[in-house]
Amino acid sequence: MTIDTKELRFAFGNFATGITIVTSLDADGEPLGITANSFSSVSLDPPLVLFSVDRGAYSLEAFQISRRFAINILSTDQEDMSNRFAKASVDKWSGVDFETWETGCPILTGSLASFDCRTWQTYDGGDHVIFVGEVEQMSLNTDLEPLLFFRGRYDRVLGKS
Ligand SMILES: Cc1cc2nc3c(=O)[nH]c(=O)nc-3n(C[C@H](O)[C@H](O)[C@H](O)COP(=O)(O)O)c2cc1C
Repeated sequence: MTIDTKELRFAFGNFATGITIVTSLDADGEPLGITANSFSSVSLDPPLVLFSVDRGAYSLEAFQISRRFAINILSTDQEDMSNRFAKASVDKWSGVDFETWETGCPILTGSLASFDCRTWQTYDGGDHVIFVGEVEQMSLNTDLEPLLFFRGRYDRVLGKS
């Protein structure tokens, strides 16, 4: 069967996901971040997570060099931030509140959960690079609702406004 890339993208989009902003630091120690829904939990012991980065992404090299990243799971209040961090070559950080923990990667205020990670291993993922990280610190805010992504659109958990 020949797989058409457009149809494949649409088919993949039928898997409803949450949305994250994955942050790190560039070579000058400046914060960087990308919107990513490729996040997945991997292992409890050791505590491992993964996300993947498009080989064409501006931020790829910085993620490879810094060997650390933070996963921020977005709440419904962070849709604007999701849009902002999904664009290349914009000032993503003006007015964004964050703190830093062990790795120094930005932990975004108002996230549902955050995981501060050291890169454990990277893998070839075709036109993406897969980053597996070991979680060193985390936080959770159970009062917030998750921002969801389904068939190319934002969504919310059914029954929640
Ligand atoms: C909902 C959503 C999910 C995304 N997931 C990913 C992802 O998992 N990996 C990726 O490389 N890009 C993903 N992107 C696209 C990046 O956010 C986008 O290419 C961004 O410009 C990357 O930042 P950079 O150009 O500063 O590297 C996603 C975009 C959206 C809107």
